[in-house]
Amino acid sequence: LFPWTQMRLPTNIVPLRYELNLHPNLTSMTFRASVTISVQALQDTWNIILHSTVRISRVTFMSAVSSQEKQVEILEHPRHEQIAIVAPEALLAGHNYTLKMEYSSNISSSYRGFYGFSYTDESNEKKYFAATQFEPLAARSAFPCFDEPGFKATFIIRIIRDEQYTALSNMPKKSSVPLEDGLVKDEFFESVKMSTYLVAFIVGEMKNLSQDVNGTLVSIYTVPEKVGQAHHALETAVKLLEFYQNYFEIQYPLKKLDLVAIPDSKAGAMENWGLVTFREETLLCDNNTSSVADRKLMTKIIAHELAHQWFGNLVTMRWWNDIWLNEGFATFMEYFSLEKIFKELSTYEDFLDAQFKIMKKDSLSSSRPISSSAQSSQQIGEMFDPLSYIKGASLLLMLKTFLSEDVFQHAIVLYLHNHSYGSIQSDDLWDSFNQVTNQTLDVKKMMETWTLQKGFPLVTVQRKGKELFVQQERFFLNMKPGIQPSNASYLWHIPLSYVTDGGNYSEYRSVSLLDKKSGVINLTEEVGWVKVNINMNGYYIVHYADDDWEALIKQLQRNPHVLSDKDRANLINNIFELAGLGKVPLQRAFDLINYLGNETHTAPITEALFQTGLIYNLLEKLGHMDLASRLVARVFKLLQNQIKQQTWTDEGTPSMRELRSVLLEFACTYKQENCCTAAMKLFDDWMASNGTQSLPTDVMTTVFKVGAKTEKGWSFLLKKYNSIDSEAEKNKILEALASSENVQKLYWLMKTSLDGDIIQTPKLYFIIRTVGRHFPGHLLAWDFVKENWNTLVKKLHARSYTMRSIVAESTHLFSTKAHLSEVQAFFENQPEANLQLRYVQEVLEVIQLNIHWMEKNLKSLTWWL
Ligand code: BES
Ligand code: ZN
Repeated sequence: LFPWTQMRLPTNIVPLRYELNLHPNLTSMTFRASVTISVQALQDTWNIILHSTVRISRVTFMSAVSSQEKQVEILEHPRHEQIAIVAPEALLAGHNYTLKMEYSSNISSSYRGFYGFSYTDESNEKKYFAATQFEPLAARSAFPCFDEPGFKATFIIRIIRDEQYTALSNMPKKSSVPLEDGLVKDEFFESVKMSTYLVAFIVGEMKNLSQDVNGTLVSIYTVPEKVGQAHHALETAVKLLEFYQNYFEIQYPLKKLDLVAIPDSKAGAMENWGLVTFREETLLCDNNTSSVADRKLMTKIIAHELAHQWFGNLVTMRWWNDIWLNEGFATFMEYFSLEKIFKELSTYEDFLDAQFKIMKKDSLSSSRPISSSAQSSQQIGEMFDPLSYIKGASLLLMLKTFLSEDVFQHAIVLYLHNHSYGSIQSDDLWDSFNQVTNQTLDVKKMMETWTLQKGFPLVTVQRKGKELFVQQERFFLNMKPGIQPSNASYLWHIPLSYVTDGGNYSEYRSVSLLDKKSGVINLTEEVGWVKVNINMNGYYIVHYADDDWEALIKQLQRNPHVLSDKDRANLINNIFELAGLGKVPLQRAFDLINYLGNETHTAPITEALFQTGLIYNLLEKLGHMDLASRLVARVFKLLQNQIKQQTWTDEGTPSMRELRSVLLEFACTYKQENCCTAAMKLFDDWMASNGTQSLPTDVMTTVFKVGAKTEKGWSFLLKKYNSIDSEAEKNKILEALASSENVQKLYWLMKTSLDGDIIQTPKLYFIIRTVGRHFPGHLLAWDFVKENWNTLVKKLHARSYTMRSIVAESTHLFSTKAHLSEVQAFFENQPEANLQLRYVQEVLEVIQLNIHWMEKNLKSLTWWL
């Protein structure tokens, strides 16, 4: 009988140090290994319970006192992936013991654990590669261990490899010893104290670029032929490392930091201590084919993973329920650091966009508090969702704005210093804040209204003379009329900020905290208009009384630039969301964007295009083609000047470049003649040069999409896909191929990606997203997902991030009751992803929302258009 019934390990035994010896065989996809674990007993016990899913052939036990090795038996508990070692003697509190296990296992082919794959290099030769992805629960599939983030220990890793390979691990290499048969044994230095999910090792053919930063060697590793694409990443990583060391006031503790581009992986990136892994397209940068958007993404991801070296690696959540601290902080630091050291990239635009999208999800009843309990592996997997990342980061941004940048930094530095190499809970962070604010404000009390409640507030404001009446309620996209969930009890502590035509932005300090249902703010004078939630630094939506909306709309007409671009984008977002809720007529939302002809910034235009694009998509998919095209004509008219000004180049600031790619993409998608002709001409020239002539990178996708409309263009692009080594270009081609209107081609594309040979399986999400958005493809995408469900689940895991995106992207534009019941019926019958799964609830709710939106707005839309 297995002596332990719980999922969490007992705390009577703690690991101190692991010595791991690995001998992988990349061609047979197996490995043999042994691990020696030194543990300490904290209480007297007979059993040692730990995690493992490998085949253990021999276990020996030794106590420090007797120093006699004894072979012992193990018991298994597969449901919790645990094993128990019954010791030959009682383990006594305070004493140390050693376990040695010999074992073997398969190298996994599903991108988790110790996984491997093959790829073909530039001379078409088959190559093998192996890497690890342990977070959250897969270290146990590579070695028996106490696989919970709270059990920190040190690690010594040794790897036996063929001589042509490079082996990397978290720490620098200590020695390299040739063995017989062309084998080499590498040993790495003993690691710092760290969690199991951060352990990593990689074996493959690689080259690197390196640079020293005050005693830390920063390197970018890639397959040999792509090392030329690593310069940008190296420069970026060096700058970010310096920035973080200064900002956190803690040196990065290792002598080296490797960033590795893995030729085939699923996770975008993983922050393993000292050995950060990336998908190739998120690390490598090709000057001829990487667009400004690609570069931004790459910079953001490096910033994110390097932030984890402190937030997550140095200071780690005790358990997965607090994963939002890890991911929310890394996401916050992404944007914060780039704003400081790569300001010209204007990444705040991306953050705004991400906030708009996450708020929509967070307003559904299927949402969850970002701090919620995680008891099963399913729940743990589900915690890694955009909510943890983006809502987490938004709350930190709100707090930083409220407390000021200095106070915020003080608290963080204090927190990191106090808990280095330790494990924490949310409370420890709030305690550090409270220490710094000296109890003038109870940060914990305030923040828990945001982390322990799902959703966010709708703040309604009304101006009466010099007084501003404010009130809060939950913003709830409630689509079931009649069924009113109990939202009355929701209450947040909201930092309210506002700007008026009387004051300017810089004078303003946000002082009022609305911690009741309603309140009154005294404006010192009568003003023409008021805009609440400056720069959208707060995580809430604002609704104004009729006159106050009118005043803002008029101001935008008169001179939009009195408000910041963030505020303009925020107003556009809020009014469309409120129209969805039925709080304002859709007509008024369209009135508000009437000023767009005078808009010069990217964020407001992309948000307007997003909101109207969503309406367009719903109309089109319901067959209201006429209405849809009238809507586009309207939007087109609003933006015609900006579109006309665009050139087919890569000139300008990053923000201007992104705007250009959005506008030209919009124009070509809706078949604006001049744009399509220009794009076609570029494509033809490019094809005539056999794809050697360089194209402007920011409009490359648009050019390819137009080109892919012809049979010849599509085939040429596909041929090109297989012969180039820039992932950035490949992705652009893939998006173009997937935007075809030819159903057979789309089907072939999805199938081929599912097979994984010509097009890697992790890219399927990308294909389905594009297929699902366009007209003939959107039904096809869902059919494909249904038909191939079992294969998909086998390759990508039902509960993974990727599967969630695949399901969401293939269903989010459905807006009929028939589709709703169809999707529901499908999941009712799935063992692995049933209706209990949160993302399934979410997609069902999104469909309901669409149905409801149409019922409410179709009439007025018809009338208005
Ligand atoms: N820690 C995560 C990787 C991860 C994600 C592990 C999900 C386990 C489950 C890493 O820091 C991360 O967030 N990666 C992102 C990219 C990031 C920049 C948004 C990813 O892989 O998508
Ligand atoms: Zn992360």
